[in-house]
Amino acid sequence: MAGLLAGKVTLVTGGASGIGRATALACAREGARLIIADRQEAEGLHTVHLITAQGGEARFVRTDVTQATEVEALITTVVDRYGRLDCAHNNAGISGRGIAGDHRALTAEYPEERWHQVIAINLTGVWLCMKFELQRMLAQGGDAIVNTASAAGLVGLVGNAAYGASKHGVVGLTKTAAVEYAQHGIRVNFVCPGYIHTPMTAPGMQDPDHMARMIASEPVGRMGHPEEVAAAVVWLCSDAASFVTGHAMAVDGGYVAQ
Ligand code: NAI
Repeated sequence: MAGLLAGKVTLVTGGASGIGRATALACAREGARLIIADRQEAEGLHTVHLITAQGGEARFVRTDVTQATEVEALITTVVDRYGRLDCAHNNAGISGRGIAGDHRALTAEYPEERWHQVIAINLTGVWLCMKFELQRMLAQGGDAIVNTASAAGLVGLVGNAAYGASKHGVVGLTKTAAVEYAQHGIRVNFVCPGYIHTPMTAPGMQDPDHMARMIASEPVGRMGHPEEVAAAVVWLCSDAASFVTGHAMAVDGGYVAQ
């Protein structure tokens, strides 16, 4: 299949839903061969079905990105199946809101259990994926990694300290790896979405006041769509971005430009 990512073996974590599913579909349309990794099996298999229905190639590997052994096995499966790994979108994440039953908590009241859970998935999970992806890319000759940070990785987010800290952590991690591996031909970038319509933001959309605040915070006056983030990820993965590394691409309707 021709396209910006023709033949590239591409891994998407969190590919069972939202931004990850949209990215997987967009990469497949550009000719990539996909591996969908997620802890949700039924939805991950549905992403595979959507890709094959549009003529693409994909398989699902059930993975919890917080478990090093599972991430290592994921990369082994990718290589066993396709012989290489060209691109990775490390995107699995949670909002951190509502885990403890409440909607938001200021820093001094932030529940410790929730803190550890958010950091484990959103930050340590990204690092574990990068660790095994980079080992493989170094062995074969590198290509591109794109991490999902957030607008909350660039500015503070009231009421969700762990999420903001985890996403600022992804920013630092990505920039560090970008510099470390630049001379190995591996580009490492990150996208910073604003408020995007996905299952993650769906609970907030049930509350008209919260919904109004989300829209009001976006200068363009609307929330974004997962496909708008996916387009940026495809470009950053592609050779069209061959001189781009360590870059924060805001896909946020102008949120962080204010
Ligand atoms: P989503 O909830 O639709 O998708 C997240 C996916 O990650 C789910 O399929 C979930 O099963 C998976 N996941 C969660 N924990 C996992 C784990 N331990 N191991 C493997 N998979 C796991 O959410 P959405 O909105 O698509 O979020 C994707 C990424 O985008 C996240 O990192 C999120 O923080 C980030 N983001 C989302 C924004 C939004 O407004 N929706 C804004 C900025 C960033």
